[in-house]
Amino acid sequence: MTGYDGKVTEDAQISPGPLRSDQQEPHPDLKSVVAKHLVTRWRKPVPEHTRQAFETAQDWLQARGNPPLVLDSFCGTGMSTSLLAQRFPNHAVIGVDKSAHRLAKQPPSQDFLLLRAECEPFWLLLSQAGMTLARHYLLYPNPWPKASQLRRRVHGHPAMPLLQQLGGEVEMRSNWSIYAREFAIACDLIGIQGQLEELAVDTPLTLFEKKYWQRQQPLWRFRGQCCR
Ligand SMILES: C[S@@+](CC[C@H](N)C(=O)[O-])C[C@H]1O[C@@H](n2cnc3c(N)ncnc32)[C@H](O)[C@@H]1O
Repeated sequence: MTGYDGKVTEDAQISPGPLRSDQQEPHPDLKSVVAKHLVTRWRKPVPEHTRQAFETAQDWLQARGNPPLVLDSFCGTGMSTSLLAQRFPNHAVIGVDKSAHRLAKQPPSQDFLLLRAECEPFWLLLSQAGMTLARHYLLYPNPWPKASQLRRRVHGHPAMPLLQQLGGEVEMRSNWSIYAREFAIACDLIGIQGQLEELAVDTPLTLFEKKYWQRQQPLWRFRGQCCR
């Protein structure tokens, strides 16, 4: 759709309705923004609640003997975290979201850990501690659909190169094809090789995916492997 110039609040942009954007193609600045982030160090201070969440994660992992780690970034209500824990029983599965309200919808479980934290500084702490991931899921991150919001998208954020440093298999899903194409381009630039495809849902993995699926919206999945 064209001509969108309205204000997009964080809550409005993640409603499961059709997405509107003033972009028709991947952002013209995408490659230069990612290239800049590859050669600069991201220095934003880590919020205290994210540091505490990271310490909780370290203790939890240590108590389990540090098995391979699956991270579910932007996990929302943790539906995907719970399902991933069932899918990968020999792994430690951690879901991270900044919304205490969404996280509270999932009952606590021995099988996985849900943490309230900012994902980007959480990735920074993992990287600084030399920790790596077996798998990293980023399921329906906020699209930030206005062209002026490129730097708020995961691939336009200074933390994007950390995804490669954390290693493992990266899977990102989106209901916005341009977002998915941009993410795939950015992954290629930072050293994550993979494929973008239309996602055929049989069993929804997240609450948003369920809503999109019920509305028969096309969905997109990037899956890639971090190259060392
Ligand atoms: C569109 S929702 C998707 C939630 C879930 N993955 C799903 O598919 O149902 C995006 C989620 O990202 C969370 N979020 C946005 N920015 C974040 C950040 N920087 N760190 C952690 N969580 C964030 C929001 O609170 C929200 O729950």
